[in-house]
Amino acid sequence: MKPVKVGICGLGTVGGGTFNVLKRNAEEIARRAGRGIEVAQIATRHPNPKCDTGATSITADVLDVVNNPEIDIVVELIGGYTLAKELVLQAIENGKHVVTANKALIAVHGNEIFAKAREKGVIVAFEASVAGGIPVIKAIREGLAGNRINWLAGIINGTGNFILTEMREKGRTFEDVLKEAQELGYAEADPTFDVEGIDAAHKLTILASIAFGIPLQFDKAYTEGIARLTTADVNYAEALGYRIKHLGVARRTDSGIELRVHPTLIPADRLIANVNGVMNAVMVNGDAVGSTLYYGAGAGMEPTASAVVADLVDVARALTTDPNNRVPHLAFQPDSLSDHPILPISACESAYYLRIQAKDHPGVLAQVATILSERGINIESIMQKEAEVQDGLVPVILVTHRVVEQRIDDAIAALEALEDVVGQVVRIRVEQLN
Ligand code: HSE
Repeated sequence: MKPVKVGICGLGTVGGGTFNVLKRNAEEIARRAGRGIEVAQIATRHPNPKCDTGATSITADVLDVVNNPEIDIVVELIGGYTLAKELVLQAIENGKHVVTANKALIAVHGNEIFAKAREKGVIVAFEASVAGGIPVIKAIREGLAGNRINWLAGIINGTGNFILTEMREKGRTFEDVLKEAQELGYAEADPTFDVEGIDAAHKLTILASIAFGIPLQFDKAYTEGIARLTTADVNYAEALGYRIKHLGVARRTDSGIELRVHPTLIPADRLIANVNGVMNAVMVNGDAVGSTLYYGAGAGMEPTASAVVADLVDVARALTTDPNNRVPHLAFQPDSLSDHPILPISACESAYYLRIQAKDHPGVLAQVATILSERGINIESIMQKEAEVQDGLVPVILVTHRVVEQRIDDAIAALEALEDVVGQVVRIRVEQLN
């Protein structure tokens, strides 16, 4: 059979990795796909010194690839929303299949892109958009298709996890580790996407859609980053038997779907609490299967290329199949997507770690306990660090049972209004993941 012709747009970290993996593993890939997968053209403005592109046609204009009649599958690896969206829509218009690693594009414009792809009978594959090399989209969309998914929770930003790990284990500074992540090609072009949780929210939006069968709704995701975490809270969490991870959490409840990204205390003995460095992990809980865990490299040249190439193999196999009988883009048939609402963060439920700077004299703890009990907030554990009294202030750290966030907001406002409480109360969400 004739080889499938691929055009790669973008020869940076992921594009370069994709080119090299396709070349190095060409024989194995052809045995799997049933035909060769050949790179017919590359669009890049800068040669990648890690790639020996030989006689492959190179252009500086991505639209040359998209409009090249020889090409069957366009691989979009330029990132961003503007040109990437234009090239993907044009590729679809031209009847080409698309493989992309662009989570921002899918999370923000995926509904429109998939509608157009359906109209034209082409596939848009996006495994590499979430958790780098971990085939978690395939696992949820196909492997767990018999389940009603209850919740999922993941460490889905390698840069953020790398920063948290290095800070905790080696005492390195935030800036120092971020610079290394950029040099290693893990970080987004705009690293605020990593540290402010936007990249994780893009990925969570995609995971939630395929888990619950809802349209992509990135604008409704709650997003909080890691930039404001302090070493003090990391250490108090450890003393309480927890570890702080930056998690994306999506949970189905009767009133709606929770979609939130934030630093989270998780019990230190959970497998996912021990996922370190640039590694990612996603826990998915289904009613039939129970909890499952998917682990691997969440960023980097060849781990991400692994997912891109797997998509290329899938598309190559499906080229001659009936478009109406393919795996739906968002796992559920497009006319069966649910309108179950995304909940605002104030209606989400979790347990909470609170750190209060209190004046060190009698009756303060009683006032704190009263404020919490008046709002039906149950305290699971409490720790007062007498040894750390400074300027007459003592840190009071407590962990609550699960409660709706609105009640914690009210309690924090009341605590901060107390004369014996100084400054802002630190609040970090806690998940048991069991
Ligand atoms: N910046 C992303 C991360 C790259 O650090 O996880 C992979 O999506």
